[in-house]
Amino acid sequence: MTNEVPENFEILYSQQQIQSWVEKIAAEIEEAYPKGEEIVCVGVLKGAWIFHSDLVRALKREVRIDFIRAASYGSGTESSGSVRILKDIETEIENKHVLLVEEIVDSGRTLNFIKKRLANSGPKSVKIAALLDKKERREVPCDPDFVGAVVPNHFVVGYGLDWAERYRCLKDIYIVKDEVLH
Ligand code: IMP
Ligand code: MG
Repeated sequence: MTNEVPENFEILYSQQQIQSWVEKIAAEIEEAYPKGEEIVCVGVLKGAWIFHSDLVRALKREVRIDFIRAASYGSGTESSGSVRILKDIETEIENKHVLLVEEIVDSGRTLNFIKKRLANSGPKSVKIAALLDKKERREVPCDPDFVGAVVPNHFVVGYGLDWAERYRCLKDIYIVKDEVLH
């Protein structure tokens, strides 16, 4: 995987902008949960792994970390509509606060499915932290509790976000223009 930025990529959000959203979300999370209560921070693989690692380190309290992996996208840029769990959480979440950590919400299918599924295990709460929210693309209900920014309907890469598994490790977030995608 190369970290070189292709010439035709247009920067949308800088590392500094992203970090300021991470700090803002972390502060909102600290406010939202009673002091001293543990949160199980579940990163949605793979895309959220960088945001998850930045967010848990920006929190002031001790957290448990876990990951879940769901597939809704193939190698293209459109959701297939169905969601499957490829890797489940390993933590016992009964009576615990669960925070799902996702880098971007698009149709809402992935988180809608995961949230309902985890809610069946009797957690104290299930909330969602999303760095980016493509609100206008929503197809099923999904309302993140903590959001960095609402983003326009562009396909974006970097900071964990991929295009067919590429560009995840770029430090900033870029728009892949339509003429490049198609
Ligand atoms: P949803 O189930 O349609 O909400 O899709 C959510 C997942 O699709 C995200 O977690 C990403 O992994 C992927 N995704 C959605 N939009 C983009 C994008 O613009 N770039 C890269 N991946 C995206
Ligand atoms: Mg994701």
